[in-house]
Amino acid sequence: MRILVTGGAGFIGSHFVDRFIAESHQVWVLDNLRSGSKTNVNPKAKFIFMDLKDEALETKVAEIRPEAVFHLAAQIDVRISCSDPIFDATENIMATLRLIEAGLKNEMRFFGFASSGGAIYGEANGGPQSETHPEVPMNPYGVAKLAIDKYLHSYSVQRGLKSASLRFSNVYGPRQGAKGEAGVVAVFAKLLRDGKPLRINGDGLQTRDFVYAPDLAEAASMVLKQGATGVFNLGTGIETTILDLAKNLCGIAEIDDSLIQHGPAIHGEQRRSVLDPSKAARELVWNPRTSFAHGLKTTYDWFVANRLEK
Ligand SMILES: NC(=O)c1ccc[n+]([C@@H]2O[C@H](COP(=O)([O-])OP(=O)(O)OC[C@H]3O[C@@H](n4cnc5c(N)ncnc54)[C@H](O)[C@@H]3O)[C@@H](O)[C@H]2O)c1
Repeated sequence: MRILVTGGAGFIGSHFVDRFIAESHQVWVLDNLRSGSKTNVNPKAKFIFMDLKDEALETKVAEIRPEAVFHLAAQIDVRISCSDPIFDATENIMATLRLIEAGLKNEMRFFGFASSGGAIYGEANGGPQSETHPEVPMNPYGVAKLAIDKYLHSYSVQRGLKSASLRFSNVYGPRQGAKGEAGVVAVFAKLLRDGKPLRINGDGLQTRDFVYAPDLAEAASMVLKQGATGVFNLGTGIETTILDLAKNLCGIAEIDDSLIQHGPAIHGEQRRSVLDPSKAARELVWNPRTSFAHGLKTTYDWFVANRLEK
């Protein structure tokens, strides 16, 4: 199948690309390298250096005629979405609509979207959050993800587009960026690698649901094979405290956990986030197969091996 992966030079997108290539698909990567890197791109994929907002997007999509598009390119910084919601909406809503329209004009049959459970459901007050949990995004980034999930529903009704909104939990794994407001696993792994102390915001008892990027790529492949449509939570259903994460990583790095320090809590930070992945288990027969211990070790080893890049 001809598959276009936007953001395929980024962290999660590059794992999707690897998976699709391993399954003998023809893969194009479209990326402006704002946060991604050419070194992440599988050499068997065709790389297009382009911004989604580029006038030439439609012509490029017409050349490729992708049967499926997986859209992972995004402005991913929540803080930027709060300080500049117009920029965020331009990147995360308008550019996505341009891509969908370009695809629809060129025989695209399936659209897979990198959505976010953590950003859409807000605080987890009870157990893991299922797809029917109230949608209460707390920042413009989450609002934009939810908007596209809803647009995709409307595209299916109005134009017959088959699509899946993949609502990830907190993703970690090799190639994750560790700059700025990056994923906490990447930030901690890099600090430990460099022998620096870890600084936890507050008591460290806030929880997240950490899912391993290659497991998400497996889910994407299952979605594609089955032509599954709708909204799917892709997480593990397991809550891990940030303190436990820090201790686990210290153990892997063979560093005494006295390097763990506590700073002030961040005002408004989400306390608990955990997704219920049972719909994906039932309908896609997907289970996040990588244990946290194995995933963390692989991730830490990657940071050690890629000292110069990140
Ligand atoms: N990392 C997580 O925990 C997480 C959780 C939920 C959802 N997501 C979503 O998954 C997707 C991938 O996230 P990631 O963590 O791999 O981030 P990433 O920054 O590593 O990847 C994003 C990629 O998109 C590219 N890009 C950004 N804007 C672009 C534009 N206008 N035109 C072309 N390319 C552009 C970047 O250069 C980068 O390669 C994003 O849509 C993100 O919102 C991530």
